[in-house]
Amino acid sequence: MHLRTEGYSYLCGMNRIRIAIFASGTGSNALNLIRYFEDHPQIEVALVYSNKVDAGIVASARPLGVPVEVSDNAQAADGGFLLALCAQYRIDWIVLAGYLRLIPTALIEKFDGRMLNLHPSLLPKYGGKGMYGHHVHEAVLSAGERHTGITIHFVNAHFDKGEIVAQFHTPIAPDATLKDVEASIRYLEQSYLPTVVEHTLLR
Ligand code: GRF
Repeated sequence: MHLRTEGYSYLCGMNRIRIAIFASGTGSNALNLIRYFEDHPQIEVALVYSNKVDAGIVASARPLGVPVEVSDNAQAADGGFLLALCAQYRIDWIVLAGYLRLIPTALIEKFDGRMLNLHPSLLPKYGGKGMYGHHVHEAVLSAGERHTGITIHFVNAHFDKGEIVAQFHTPIAPDATLKDVEASIRYLEQSYLPTVVEHTLLR
């Protein structure tokens, strides 16, 4: 599969848009993106970067033939380090998919208009510091919300406040548990993130 993919990009003149996916955890969204763009004529996943050596995505992306780079949290906070990494892999766009570190300003500036984040709520609600993973869903449930969803947005200097590209909603049943909400959010993420990334990069 790897050889076939390389041959394909050679035939295409190697001009595909090169994405880096940043992920800190299991990486179900990163894997979904890798699979979606595997044989895509215009876009390729050129790098998976993680700030956690034991993140699930590190082990699961490598067998798929995608370059994986890992650093510690000190390097994850170092704009120079991340800029050099992106330059090394000739990255055009960055997609944050379950990435839990603050993005250094230098990287935000360099990738202004070329960095997307996936957030598991309907921003501006339930965004900002501390609002990640199950914390978001717990806050949504304890507020008694009747629906929630996902937001895909551009990243700027203000946490979870960049321009919104797309949002998808899902209802919350009156007796819904944390697991139910997590499952609904995951379904939306798996269904919509790849096509939103694709359309945003190609628009
Ligand atoms: C997803 O819900 C994403 O929206 C949030 O963190 C979760 C990461 O899941 N930011 P995974 O690592 O992609 O499986």
